Amino acid sequence: MTSARIDDEKITQIRESVDIVDVIGEYVQLKKQGRNYFGLCPFHGENTPSFSVSADKQIFHCFGCGAGGNVFTFLMDMEGYNFVEAAKNLAEKGNIPLDVEINKDHGRSHVPAGSAQMLEAHELLRKFYHHLLMNTKEGQEALEYLMNRGFTEEAIEKFQIGYSLDSWDFAAKLLSKRGFSPELMEQGGLIIHREKDGKYFDRFRNRVMFPIMDHQGNTIAFSGRALGEDEPKYLNSPETPIFNKSKVLYNFQLARPHIRKKEQAVIFEGFADCISAVRAGVENSLATMGTALTDQHIQLLKRNTDQIVICYDSDSAGLNAANRAASMLQEHGFHLKVALMPDKLDPDDYIRKYGEKSFVSDVIGGSLTYMAFKMHYLRLGKNLNNEGDRIPYIEAVLKEISHLPSAVERDHYLRQLASEFSLSLEALEQQQRQTFFSERKKGNLQAQAQPVKVSLQYEHKLRPAYYNAETKLIAHMLRSKETAYKIQQMLGNASLHIDEHQAVITYLYGFYEEGHEADTSLFLTYLPDPNLRRIVSEIEMMSVNEEVSDKELTDYINQVLKYEKVLKIKEKEAEEKEAVRRSDHLRAAQIAMEIIQMRKML
Ligand code: UTP
Ligand code: MN
Repeated sequence: MTSARIDDEKITQIRESVDIVDVIGEYVQLKKQGRNYFGLCPFHGENTPSFSVSADKQIFHCFGCGAGGNVFTFLMDMEGYNFVEAAKNLAEKGNIPLDVEINKDHGRSHVPAGSAQMLEAHELLRKFYHHLLMNTKEGQEALEYLMNRGFTEEAIEKFQIGYSLDSWDFAAKLLSKRGFSPELMEQGGLIIHREKDGKYFDRFRNRVMFPIMDHQGNTIAFSGRALGEDEPKYLNSPETPIFNKSKVLYNFQLARPHIRKKEQAVIFEGFADCISAVRAGVENSLATMGTALTDQHIQLLKRNTDQIVICYDSDSAGLNAANRAASMLQEHGFHLKVALMPDKLDPDDYIRKYGEKSFVSDVIGGSLTYMAFKMHYLRLGKNLNNEGDRIPYIEAVLKEISHLPSAVERDHYLRQLASEFSLSLEALEQQQRQTFFSERKKGNLQAQAQPVKVSLQYEHKLRPAYYNAETKLIAHMLRSKETAYKIQQMLGNASLHIDEHQAVITYLYGFYEEGHEADTSLFLTYLPDPNLRRIVSEIEMMSVNEEVSDKELTDYINQVLKYEKVLKIKEKEAEEKEAVRRSDHLRAAQIAMEIIQMRKML
């Protein structure tokens, strides 16, 4: 049993010291609706929230993928913790003293072999690089470079920036002296194996080192910037078992609480920009790691906010990237803004040139709506004084306007267009309507992003009567020990038809036998199988009356028993057929009588 090492009393104490809504709230943006909280399920990709958390019951359940459990199993599923690790983490949150040993390698059972060593090596090098930058003569030039770029000591500390020595094998030697396997360190991207003499040498040499952290703050990769004009400008860790750049957003761990608070995230193309923005007070800043925005990034963002400001470089490459990112985010239902800077600057240049205040108020504060950005984007490379450019521009804008769901917005941009090009508003409106109908005909009008809507697929599932009766019985058995025993008696020797349901009640009898009172959240800790936890959390999320009459219970039991009889009748019918086939007419007639009797009993 998972709870073998921590006693039940302690488990209950820990569980009561934290609120599942807060714990899950650190991973999922939850909105209250009725008695429960809803958000996007962190266990499968989705755009409409079907993940629910019950504060009363202290459990979660996803109606989409079926994931479910209590606060312990949530952390186990989410972080790959084992039970003891999850308990320890929660005990810390709830300030409950808990003395248990965690064996690191065994605890992180989800980490592939060798990954623990890779993480440790990254941790070691991060500290070393940082030390070299801050405290040594060798690091002085790099430190000056950073200071000249406006990095403050505070920022260097916060982002744990460092410096890698101008040496071929400083890191290789250090790692091997500390007992790290060179093959593993090569796989981890820290050192490189030279074929011709079999020697290992350092990947990063004479560079300013930016550690890349995962969402728990572990260093999983580095990006090293050349001090001068060396190529490449930024040298990155390759993809490794611990680093997948299409999943990672730079600064995510530090930004997450700010993103929650401001209900908005700002994304940058480069982490130098992200660091400058944080320094300017835009703490909800994130950056991609030299890749375009991926679906995985979007799912991660979606779990934390639905408002994004895109703040990419304002050169043409940056604007193209911003346009692509914007349309992806729009498709996923985000509320979008795009921040632009003058003179093709990047955010970091802008801050150095115009200051932090202006960045916050003019660039971030003045960011454009998606439509206004598109109007700007459509203009690029066009000379609107020239009729040959102007007409297609106006048509393209009208097309975009006809995709806007809000009449107020459509009116706003039509007026803007009318005034800029001295056109009559009526003419524009008329043309926009035509555009709308032709776009609709072509099927170009995508469904508008829906407001938060809870998908209750489970309510539509067509399930046989005995199935629903079984879930109702289990729901009542979970609510009260007394009812559970009553149902046990009423069922007698009959068992539930769904194997998982039978398994659940068998565990539940055991749970009550051990002297526990009804407590579904605690019971979930007892279930060893995630599939059973799913079933229990789904059932627990159903609403049933607190008080249940014997009549109601008898009805459910009868549904179950009736199905049992139906199955028996089916068996008999098969037997009857078999007897007819053997020409045993006497036997067939006997069975037919039995079947009639059984039908009467139904
Ligand atoms: P930029 O070329 O815009 O760099 O690349 P930057 O952020 O302005 O950096 P500074 O100000 O010159 O120091 C944007 C991002 O693209 C990735 C990095 O993640 C960088 O932050 N990149 C760029 C690389 O990975 N390698 C490169 O050689 C260049
Ligand atoms: Mn830059």
